[in-house]
Amino acid sequence: MNKKTIYILSIESSCDDTSVAVLANDTILSNVVANQEIHSKYGGVVPELASRAHQQNIVPVVQEALIQANIDKKDLSAIAFTQGPGLMGSLLVGTSFAKSMALALQIPLIAVNHMQGHILAHFIRDKAQKKPSFPFICLTISGGHTQLIRVNDYFDMEILGETIDDAVGEAFDKSAKILGLPYPGGPFIDKYAQLGDPKAFEFPKPKTKNELDFSFSGLKTAILYFIRKKEQENPNFIKENLHDICASIQQTIIDILLIKLKKAVKKTGIKSIAIAGGVSANSGIRKTLVEAEKKYQWQTYIPKFEYTTDNAAMIGITGYYKYLEGNFDDNTVSAKARMSVLE
Ligand code: KG4
Ligand code: ZN
Repeated sequence: MNKKTIYILSIESSCDDTSVAVLANDTILSNVVANQEIHSKYGGVVPELASRAHQQNIVPVVQEALIQANIDKKDLSAIAFTQGPGLMGSLLVGTSFAKSMALALQIPLIAVNHMQGHILAHFIRDKAQKKPSFPFICLTISGGHTQLIRVNDYFDMEILGETIDDAVGEAFDKSAKILGLPYPGGPFIDKYAQLGDPKAFEFPKPKTKNELDFSFSGLKTAILYFIRKKEQENPNFIKENLHDICASIQQTIIDILLIKLKKAVKKTGIKSIAIAGGVSANSGIRKTLVEAEKKYQWQTYIPKFEYTTDNAAMIGITGYYKYLEGNFDDNTVSAKARMSVLE
């Protein structure tokens, strides 16, 4: 073991994935994610079932992460964990486990903001992604959030705009539900969209008072009415047009995101653009960002696929930068269901 290396074990349990990672400085040694299949048959995450599954998964996932990292727990420098935002019952499992582990090992405890984690995932040292330099604009798109953030430094951020109703992930998931697809529907829309015509159908793009805010609830309603009307004419409409419907929904969402990004660039003069959060796994959004490099002379930063949806590696890298600042928490720290990205 290199004495100067900082080894952090990090725990993410904010929603329905139990994840544990081990980092050596900014490099990932292991990043284990246990998904909870149980929720798909309910069409959404059931909080009570999620916390129970975390309770079952946490010990084996911690063990597996240590084994894969080939490290003994006595060599760890600190324990990082997701403090919030998220489901309280889920957060409590990770928080309590992290506190106990830090106490038992007599090492520092680091509380991490999940939303900062999504953004700072870009700073994981990995051949598959490049690190942005400050300042940059981050479009955070997940199941619970949609925000445009100006990132001045690791822990110096400003919210430029955010959704006034649904998050982008919800727009994907609710649209998928209307189409009868399983939860979470985002990845299914992505898969079928690749086989369809994005111009087949047109859906409205919302207007917001603040030009950098987002609104997605109208899109969901428009899709619902559109499908109802078409099904009255043809009961097999969804089945016969699934690929085109998915491609058109996805294209509408991409267009909305791109319009906002362009406005943010114009307003700030910053042309370094990163995307983060579960929805940044979307292949159409990733492709659009790659094309934007040439088209608009932006520098774009697209996270490695495994660092997009919820994972502990992103909590670990955020913990690492807090460790470098000596920003530790004591054992009275508690989970927070609601938490701004600025906290
Ligand atoms: O960041 P995340 O894992 O959890 C939250 O913090 O919310 O994001 C989950 C969201 C879900 O809404 C899921 O449908 C969406 O990310 N998602 C996708 C894709 N993969 C995950 N949406 C569109 N296309 C994808 N490929
Ligand atoms: Zn997330």
